[in-house]
Amino acid sequence: MVSVYKEKIALWDWYEAECVSSTNDEIRQLVPQCGKYIAISAKRQTGGRGRRGHIWREGEGNLYFTFSMELNVEELSRFVCLVGLSLAETLLEKSPQSDVKIKWPNDVFISGKKISGILIEKIDNGLWAIGIGVNIAVAPEIANVEYKTGSLYESGIMLDRIEFLRYYLAKFASVMERYQTEGFKPLKEQWLGLALNYRQQICIKTEKNVKNGEFAALDDNGYLMLRTDSGMERIVAGDLFV
Ligand code: BTN
Repeated sequence: MVSVYKEKIALWDWYEAECVSSTNDEIRQLVPQCGKYIAISAKRQTGGRGRRGHIWREGEGNLYFTFSMELNVEELSRFVCLVGLSLAETLLEKSPQSDVKIKWPNDVFISGKKISGILIEKIDNGLWAIGIGVNIAVAPEIANVEYKTGSLYESGIMLDRIEFLRYYLAKFASVMERYQTEGFKPLKEQWLGLALNYRQQICIKTEKNVKNGEFAALDDNGYLMLRTDSGMERIVAGDLFV
Protein backbone atom coordinates (compact mmCIF):
# COMPACT_ATOMS: atom_id res chain seq x y z
CA MET A 1 0.00 0.00 0.00
CA VAL A 2 1.27 3.48 -0.84
CA SER A 3 1.90 5.72 2.12
CA VAL A 4 2.26 9.42 1.38
CA TYR A 5 4.60 11.67 3.33
CA LYS A 6 2.62 14.49 4.96
CA GLU A 7 4.70 16.51 7.44
CA LYS A 8 6.86 16.37 10.51
CA ILE A 9 4.94 16.29 13.79
CA ALA A 10 7.12 16.65 16.88
CA LEU A 11 9.76 13.87 16.56
CA TRP A 12 8.02 11.92 13.81
CA ASP A 13 7.80 12.00 10.02
CA TRP A 14 4.12 11.41 9.45
CA TYR A 15 2.84 9.31 6.52
CA GLU A 16 -0.73 8.52 5.59
CA ALA A 17 -2.24 5.60 3.63
CA GLU A 18 -5.75 5.22 2.22
CA CYS A 19 -6.30 1.66 3.43
CA VAL A 20 -4.10 -0.86 5.25
CA SER A 21 -4.63 -4.12 7.04
CA SER A 22 -3.01 -2.85 10.25
CA THR A 23 -0.91 0.28 10.81
CA ASN A 24 1.19 -1.82 13.23
CA ASP A 25 2.19 -4.02 10.26
CA GLU A 26 2.58 -1.10 7.88
CA ILE A 27 5.15 0.59 10.10
CA ARG A 28 7.43 -2.49 9.86
CA GLN A 29 7.53 -2.03 6.07
CA LEU A 30 8.12 1.70 6.31
CA VAL A 31 10.88 1.90 8.92
CA PRO A 32 13.64 0.42 6.70
CA GLN A 33 12.84 2.92 3.90
CA CYS A 34 11.77 5.99 5.84
CA GLY A 35 13.77 6.05 9.04
CA LYS A 36 13.40 5.21 12.69
CA TYR A 37 10.99 7.87 13.93
CA ILE A 38 7.89 7.72 11.82
CA ALA A 39 4.13 7.79 12.29
CA ILE A 40 1.68 6.14 9.90
CA SER A 41 -2.06 6.73 9.88
CA ALA A 42 -4.67 5.18 7.60
CA LYS A 43 -8.11 6.34 6.54
CA ARG A 44 -9.24 2.71 6.60
CA GLN A 45 -7.87 -0.26 8.52
CA THR A 46 -9.40 -3.59 7.58
CA GLY A 47 -7.47 -6.00 9.84
CA GLY A 48 -6.99 -3.95 13.00
CA ARG A 49 -6.03 -5.94 16.06
CA GLY A 50 -6.21 -5.27 19.76
CA ARG A 51 -4.59 -6.62 22.90
CA ARG A 52 -4.93 -10.27 23.87
CA GLY A 53 -6.25 -11.49 20.51
CA HIS A 54 -9.16 -9.04 20.19
CA ILE A 55 -9.96 -7.35 16.93
CA TRP A 56 -10.17 -3.57 16.57
CA ARG A 57 -13.01 -2.69 14.24
CA GLU A 58 -12.93 0.26 11.90
CA GLY A 59 -15.57 2.99 11.65
CA GLU A 60 -15.77 5.82 9.15
CA GLY A 61 -13.87 8.89 10.36
CA ASN A 62 -12.06 7.10 13.19
CA LEU A 63 -8.31 7.33 13.74
CA TYR A 64 -5.84 4.45 13.41
CA PHE A 65 -2.17 5.23 13.68
CA THR A 66 1.14 3.77 14.77
CA PHE A 67 4.35 5.54 15.62
CA SER A 68 7.80 4.20 16.37
CA MET A 69 9.90 4.84 19.41
CA GLU A 70 13.27 3.64 20.62
CA LEU A 71 13.41 2.50 24.22
CA ASN A 72 14.97 -0.01 26.55
CA VAL A 73 12.84 -3.00 27.35
CA GLU A 74 13.25 -2.26 31.09
CA GLU A 75 11.32 0.96 30.51
CA LEU A 76 8.48 -0.61 28.59
CA SER A 77 5.96 -0.84 31.43
CA ARG A 78 6.48 2.81 32.40
CA PHE A 79 6.19 3.78 28.81
CA VAL A 80 2.86 1.90 28.52
CA CYS A 81 1.52 4.24 31.23
CA LEU A 82 2.90 7.35 29.54
CA VAL A 83 1.28 6.47 26.21
CA GLY A 84 -2.13 6.19 27.92
CA LEU A 85 -1.58 9.26 30.11
CA SER A 86 -0.79 11.34 27.00
CA LEU A 87 -4.04 10.19 25.40
CA ALA A 88 -6.08 11.09 28.46
CA GLU A 89 -4.36 14.47 28.73
CA THR A 90 -4.95 15.25 25.07
CA LEU A 91 -8.65 14.68 25.64
CA LEU A 92 -8.75 16.69 28.87
CA GLU A 93 -6.96 19.63 27.29
CA LYS A 94 -9.50 19.72 24.51
CA SER A 95 -12.47 19.04 26.76
CA PRO A 96 -11.62 19.74 30.43
CA GLN A 97 -15.11 18.92 31.71
CA SER A 98 -15.17 15.41 30.21
CA ASP A 99 -15.08 12.37 32.50
CA VAL A 100 -11.83 10.92 31.10
CA LYS A 101 -10.37 7.84 32.81
CA ILE A 102 -7.55 5.41 32.14
CA LYS A 103 -8.25 1.74 32.65
CA TRP A 104 -5.10 -0.21 33.46
CA PRO A 105 -2.95 -0.78 31.56
CA ASN A 106 -3.83 1.94 29.07
CA ASP A 107 -7.37 1.96 27.68
CA VAL A 108 -9.01 5.36 27.70
CA PHE A 109 -12.65 5.79 28.65
CA ILE A 110 -15.03 8.75 28.59
CA SER A 111 -18.13 8.53 30.79
CA GLY A 112 -17.63 4.78 31.20
CA LYS A 113 -17.26 3.99 27.49
CA LYS A 114 -14.05 2.95 25.79
CA ILE A 115 -12.85 5.56 23.31
CA SER A 116 -9.33 4.41 22.62
CA GLY A 117 -7.06 1.37 22.80
CA ILE A 118 -3.32 0.92 22.50
CA LEU A 119 -1.33 -2.00 21.13
CA ILE A 120 2.45 -1.90 21.63
CA GLU A 121 4.53 -4.38 19.63
CA LYS A 122 8.21 -4.87 18.98
CA ILE A 123 9.58 -3.84 15.55
CA ASP A 124 13.23 -4.57 16.01
CA ASN A 125 15.93 -4.46 18.66
CA GLY A 126 15.04 -1.50 20.83
CA LEU A 127 12.45 -0.12 18.38
CA TRP A 128 8.75 -0.38 19.24
CA ALA A 129 5.49 0.19 17.38
CA ILE A 130 2.86 2.06 19.37
CA GLY A 131 -0.49 1.51 17.68
CA ILE A 132 -3.45 3.61 18.76
CA GLY A 133 -7.08 3.49 17.75
CA VAL A 134 -9.37 6.40 18.64
CA ASN A 135 -13.11 6.35 18.06
CA ILE A 136 -13.38 9.87 16.74
CA ALA A 137 -16.66 9.68 14.87
CA VAL A 138 -18.34 6.34 15.55
CA ALA A 139 -18.29 3.64 18.24
CA PRO A 140 -17.95 0.20 16.64
CA GLU A 141 -19.16 -2.67 18.82
CA ILE A 142 -16.46 -5.23 19.58
CA ALA A 143 -17.49 -8.85 20.09
CA ASN A 144 -16.71 -10.71 23.35
CA VAL A 145 -15.58 -7.75 25.41
CA GLU A 146 -17.04 -6.61 28.71
CA TYR A 147 -17.02 -2.87 28.03
CA LYS A 148 -19.21 -0.48 26.03
CA THR A 149 -17.66 1.62 23.28
CA GLY A 150 -18.14 5.35 22.79
CA SER A 151 -16.87 8.03 20.42
CA LEU A 152 -15.55 11.56 20.80
CA TYR A 153 -18.42 12.78 18.64
CA GLU A 154 -21.10 11.38 20.95
CA SER A 155 -19.19 12.84 23.93
CA GLY A 156 -19.44 16.28 22.32
CA ILE A 157 -15.72 16.51 21.46
CA MET A 158 -15.50 17.79 17.89
CA LEU A 159 -11.96 17.01 16.79
CA ASP A 160 -11.19 15.46 13.46
CA ARG A 161 -8.79 12.54 13.17
CA ILE A 162 -5.84 14.55 11.92
CA GLU A 163 -6.24 17.30 14.52
CA PHE A 164 -6.24 14.59 17.17
CA LEU A 165 -3.13 12.95 15.70
CA ARG A 166 -1.23 16.26 15.75
CA TYR A 167 -2.24 17.09 19.33
CA TYR A 168 -1.46 13.59 20.51
CA LEU A 169 2.05 13.32 19.07
CA ALA A 170 2.98 16.78 20.39
CA LYS A 171 1.57 15.88 23.82
CA PHE A 172 3.36 12.53 23.92
CA ALA A 173 6.68 14.19 23.00
CA SER A 174 6.22 16.68 25.86
CA VAL A 175 5.31 13.91 28.34
CA MET A 176 8.47 12.02 27.32
CA GLU A 177 10.50 15.18 27.89
CA ARG A 178 9.02 15.47 31.38
CA TYR A 179 9.81 11.81 32.00
CA GLN A 180 13.43 12.41 31.02
CA THR A 181 13.85 15.49 33.21
CA GLU A 182 11.60 14.73 36.22
CA GLY A 183 11.46 10.92 36.21
CA PHE A 184 8.43 8.64 36.41
CA LYS A 185 7.09 9.58 39.85
CA PRO A 186 5.13 12.80 39.08
CA LEU A 187 3.71 11.23 35.91
CA LYS A 188 2.71 8.12 37.81
CA GLU A 189 0.81 10.33 40.30
CA GLN A 190 -0.96 12.02 37.41
CA TRP A 191 -1.79 8.60 35.92
CA LEU A 192 -3.21 7.40 39.25
CA GLY A 193 -5.31 10.57 39.49
CA LEU A 194 -7.08 9.46 36.31
CA ALA A 195 -7.13 5.71 36.95
CA LEU A 196 -10.43 3.81 36.95
CA ASN A 197 -10.98 1.70 40.08
CA TYR A 198 -7.87 2.94 41.91
CA ARG A 199 -8.11 1.89 45.60
CA GLN A 200 -11.13 -0.29 44.80
CA GLN A 201 -11.67 -4.04 44.74
CA ILE A 202 -10.85 -5.38 41.29
CA CYS A 203 -10.34 -8.64 39.49
CA ILE A 204 -7.41 -9.24 37.13
CA LYS A 205 -7.59 -11.93 34.48
CA THR A 206 -4.15 -13.04 33.37
CA GLU A 207 -3.32 -15.67 30.74
CA LYS A 208 -3.29 -18.31 33.46
CA ASN A 209 -5.65 -17.30 36.24
CA VAL A 210 -7.92 -14.77 37.90
CA LYS A 211 -6.83 -12.72 40.91
CA ASN A 212 -8.94 -10.60 43.23
CA GLY A 213 -7.81 -7.79 45.47
CA GLU A 214 -7.54 -4.04 45.94
CA PHE A 215 -5.88 -1.88 43.27
CA ALA A 216 -3.39 -0.50 45.79
CA ALA A 217 -0.73 1.28 43.71
CA LEU A 218 1.43 1.39 40.62
CA ASP A 219 5.02 0.50 41.41
CA ASP A 220 7.99 2.50 40.11
CA ASN A 221 8.02 0.41 36.94
CA GLY A 222 4.35 1.03 36.19
CA TYR A 223 3.16 -2.44 37.27
CA LEU A 224 -0.15 -2.75 39.09
CA MET A 225 0.12 -3.64 42.79
CA LEU A 226 -2.78 -5.80 43.94
CA ARG A 227 -3.43 -6.20 47.67
CA THR A 228 -4.74 -9.76 48.03
CA ASP A 229 -5.59 -11.90 51.06
CA SER A 230 -2.12 -13.42 50.83
CA GLY A 231 -0.23 -10.13 50.50
CA MET A 232 0.82 -7.66 47.81
CA GLU A 233 1.17 -9.02 44.25
CA ARG A 234 2.81 -7.31 41.31
CA ILE A 235 0.74 -7.68 38.12
CA VAL A 236 2.69 -7.37 34.91
CA ALA A 237 -0.05 -8.10 32.36
CA GLY A 238 -3.74 -8.86 32.31
CA ASP A 239 -7.22 -7.41 31.98
CA LEU A 240 -8.90 -5.52 34.77
CA PHE A 241 -12.53 -6.16 35.73
CA VAL A 242 -14.69 -5.04 38.64
C1 BTN B 1 -7.00 -2.69 22.42
O1 BTN B 1 -7.73 -1.91 23.03
O2 BTN B 1 -7.12 -3.92 22.52
C2 BTN B 1 -5.92 -2.13 21.54
C3 BTN B 1 -6.46 -1.61 20.24
C4 BTN B 1 -5.38 -1.02 19.36
C5 BTN B 1 -5.92 -0.62 18.00
C6 BTN B 1 -4.91 0.13 17.18
S1 BTN B 1 -5.60 0.86 15.73
C7 BTN B 1 -4.02 1.23 15.15
C8 BTN B 1 -3.13 0.05 15.45
N1 BTN B 1 -3.25 -0.96 14.43
C9 BTN B 1 -3.78 -2.10 14.89
O3 BTN B 1 -3.98 -3.14 14.22
N2 BTN B 1 -4.06 -1.98 16.20
C10 BTN B 1 -3.70 -0.67 16.70
